Amino acid sequence: MTEVGIIGTGMLGKAVGLHLLESGIKLNVYNRTKEKTKELVEKGAKSFDSPKEIAKNSELVLTVVKDADAVREVSFGQNGIVAGKHNDLVVADMSTINPNDSKNIAKKFHDEGIIMLDTPVMGGPNVAINGQLVMMASGNEEAFEKHKKVFQTIAHKTFFLGENGTAHSVKLAMNLQIGMLALALSEGITLTRGAKVNPEIFLKILNSTYFKTGMSENKAYQMIKDKVEPTFTLRNLKKDLDTINDAAKSYGLKLPMASQALEVYNKAVEDGFGDIDYTGILSYLKESTKVEN
Ligand SMILES: NC(=O)c1ccc[n+]([C@@H]2O[C@H](COP(=O)([O-])OP(=O)(O)OC[C@H]3O[C@@H](n4cnc5c(N)ncnc54)[C@H](OP(=O)(O)O)[C@@H]3O)[C@@H](O)[C@H]2O)c1
Repeated sequence: MTEVGIIGTGMLGKAVGLHLLESGIKLNVYNRTKEKTKELVEKGAKSFDSPKEIAKNSELVLTVVKDADAVREVSFGQNGIVAGKHNDLVVADMSTINPNDSKNIAKKFHDEGIIMLDTPVMGGPNVAINGQLVMMASGNEEAFEKHKKVFQTIAHKTFFLGENGTAHSVKLAMNLQIGMLALALSEGITLTRGAKVNPEIFLKILNSTYFKTGMSENKAYQMIKDKVEPTFTLRNLKKDLDTINDAAKSYGLKLPMASQALEVYNKAVEDGFGDIDYTGILSYLKESTKVEN
C-alpha cells in the first residue's frame, strides 16, 4: 500500500487527510503549527517534525499549503522535502499557486531527481471529507497513473491535463468563477437590501431561474445571516485573485473584472474580513455600504 504524506494540515489538508485515513491509507502528517495535526494523529496518522521526515517515510507527498512561497519553503528550505529524498518519491502539490511558479518548482525538483505533479482541486473541506473533490492534474503522466488510486480516493473526478503548470492555469480560471460568483451574488443581495426588499425574495426568484448556482441555492442563505464560519478564507481567495491577475499579466492579458474584484477583496482584507469565509464578502459590502437588514 502506498504510504502517503501530507504537508500542511490546514482546513483543506486536514479534511483530505481524514478521508484518506477513513479509506484505509497509511498517512504521515506534518504541519508548521503542530496542534493542527492532533485530530489526524488521534485517527491513526503518524506525525513528523519536518517535511524532510515526511519525504523519507512516504512514497507520495501531498503539499497543501498557503501559496508558492510556502511550497518553496517546505520543499527546498531547511529540513525540506528535498533533504529527505529517495528514489520512489513523488510530490503532488494541491496548493493553489501561479502556474509559472509551479513550473519553476517542478524544474527544481526535477533537478533533484524528484517528480512533482500539480494536483490542485476544486471543492472545500466539506466535500474533501467525503472524497468529493474535483482534481486537475499535470506533470509526469506515469507518476500520476502510478498513484491514481490515491488521487481517485481524494477526488471523485480527476482530469489529467498535460505538462506542469497546465492544471494550475485551469484551477486559476476556476477560482475566478468563485470570486466573481460570490461578488455578483453579494452585490445582488446588497442592491435588494438597498431597495428595502428582503434578500430571501431575491434568492427565491434567482433560484427559480437558469442563473441559479450551487452558491445561490446553498451558501447564500448563510451569507444573508452573516454566517461566515470559514471553509476557504477570504484572505486565501484574495491571494488567488492576486495570482490570477499576475498570471493574466504574464500571458499579456488584462482581465477587467478580475482586477476590479481584486480591489474589492483587498479592501475587505484590509478592513479585517480576511479570516472569515470568502462568502463574507457580503458582510463586508453590508458594512461598507451601510445598507440595512
Ligand atoms: N479551503 C478550500 O476550500 C480550498 C480549496 C481548494 C484549494 N485550496 C488551496 O489549498 C491551500 C491550503 O488552503 P487551506 O484552506 O487549507 O488554508 P489554511 O487553512 O489557511 O491552511 C494553510 C496551510 O498552509 C500552511 N503554511 C502557510 N505558510 C506556510 C509556510 N511558509 N511554511 C509552511 N506551511 C505554511 C499553514 O501552516 P500553519 O498552520 O502553521 O499556518 C497551513 O497548514 C491554499 O493554497 C488554498 O488556496 C483551498
